[in-house]
Amino acid sequence: MAKRLDDMYPSEIVASLDKYVIGQEEAKKMVAIAIRNRSRRKKLPDEIREEVNPKNIMMIGPTGVGKTEIARRIAKLANAPFVKVEATKFTEVGYVGRDVESMVKDLMAMAVNMVSAEMAEMKSSDVDRLVDERLLDLLLPTITEKKSSDNDTAVISAEDSTREQFRDLLHKGVFDDKMVEITSQGGPKVEVGFMGTPSSMDDIQDAMSNISSLFQRPRRRRVSIKRAREIFREEEMAKVVDQDKAVEEARQRTEQMGIIFIDEIDKIASGSRTNGADVSREGVQRDILPIVEGTKVNTKWGVVDTTNILFIASGAFSMSKPSDLIPELQGRFPIRVELKALTADDFYRILTEPANALTKQYEALLGVDDVKLDFTEDGLRRIAELAWSVNNDTDNIGARRLHTIMEKLVEEVSYNADQMRGQTVVIDRGYVDRQVGEVASSRDASRYIL
Ligand SMILES: Nc1ncnc2c1ncn2[C@@H]1O[C@H](COP(=O)(O)OP(=O)(O)OP(=O)(O)O)[C@@H](O)[C@H]1O
Ligand SMILES: [Mg+2]
Repeated sequence: MAKRLDDMYPSEIVASLDKYVIGQEEAKKMVAIAIRNRSRRKKLPDEIREEVNPKNIMMIGPTGVGKTEIARRIAKLANAPFVKVEATKFTEVGYVGRDVESMVKDLMAMAVNMVSAEMAEMKSSDVDRLVDERLLDLLLPTITEKKSSDNDTAVISAEDSTREQFRDLLHKGVFDDKMVEITSQGGPKVEVGFMGTPSSMDDIQDAMSNISSLFQRPRRRRVSIKRAREIFREEEMAKVVDQDKAVEEARQRTEQMGIIFIDEIDKIASGSRTNGADVSREGVQRDILPIVEGTKVNTKWGVVDTTNILFIASGAFSMSKPSDLIPELQGRFPIRVELKALTADDFYRILTEPANALTKQYEALLGVDDVKLDFTEDGLRRIAELAWSVNNDTDNIGARRLHTIMEKLVEEVSYNADQMRGQTVVIDRGYVDRQVGEVASSRDASRYIL
């Protein structure tokens, strides 16, 4: 299992971010330090710990330079509960839409899922065995009926050995497509209802779905063995996990290690304009305040204290400045990191280095149609140069420009792949210029196409 996020040293966190995010050293460092500081804080004696609050981070930088990407990668890094929310999705309490408390509920929900999955994973072999037995029960009755005309004692030992043979065949996938009739619970099992009074539409919706699942009776349906295995697995997993224990562990992780990433925070800054929309944006900012400051939020799994949750806000702040946020909110994000605009060199690295680099994605995609892409060094350099110059000439959309250029670049191959099976397409400087050079050099054309 991967190292827990809270056991990782800053340099280790940065090293794992490096695999996906090029450059932006400062931002990666600050995020890593903030995460580490939380686990340091956890180890302090009580009286000091009370005094140390997590320092929230604000990431500021132009569009498409890796702000969200850093958050996305942290989310995948390890087992700290993490959610990413868009500030623009929230509305002030009392209005139709999501209220800000839902981000804490989402975080808790994510932690519960994560912990349950971990617990089920630990009992995975038990689950597999149980599922096997249930599937064999489905498969075998037909056989024993046929044999029951023979004498009784023979039947029993025959049954045993057939069961073993069947188990073997089952594992080999021989029965995967065989249709069987199973009884399954309609919806998810009813969970604890919400505690206290419902505080938002989300709660009410949750409650409604709980109630409706009460009325869903088990139903019989015909499915393939393959599908039956999935359904049984889900049911058995739910049974082996001790829900109370999972919820308790999830709540601890949420409160102690949870990270909420609030994206597009600049979009709720009001700037100098004052109109109706701005008033409600300010309302959202005011609603966010107590959550960042530390408050107790009712979730359907109980009360969650947000005091030690780490908040990372992020925004391009091209139309507004951090100082356009209400002062109280600015003050709650004391660590500011700036992400820099990317250079042609960065683009080159982004094209090639990350494990999920664009060139690797396209190679894989076209590989499906048996066409091989061969990117040469000078070809890659040319793509990076073009991306950079189009960004310079038109709008700077950061690394997203690579996506538009790559799409245009492989358009022809993508379309004609069926006639190019078995071929290798060499993408060198010449090829890049032929495919996108002309469009890229014309300002008007690139505005529309790239
Ligand atoms: N530094 C980087 N390293 C690797 N890939 C990057 C980097 N910056 C951006 N990208 C790529 O560009 C795309 C957009 O980046 P991202 O979503 O992080 O933008 P952003 O900074 O959040 O911009 P916005 O302000 O518009 O939300 C991502 O798919 C990512 O793969
Ligand atoms: Mg973003």
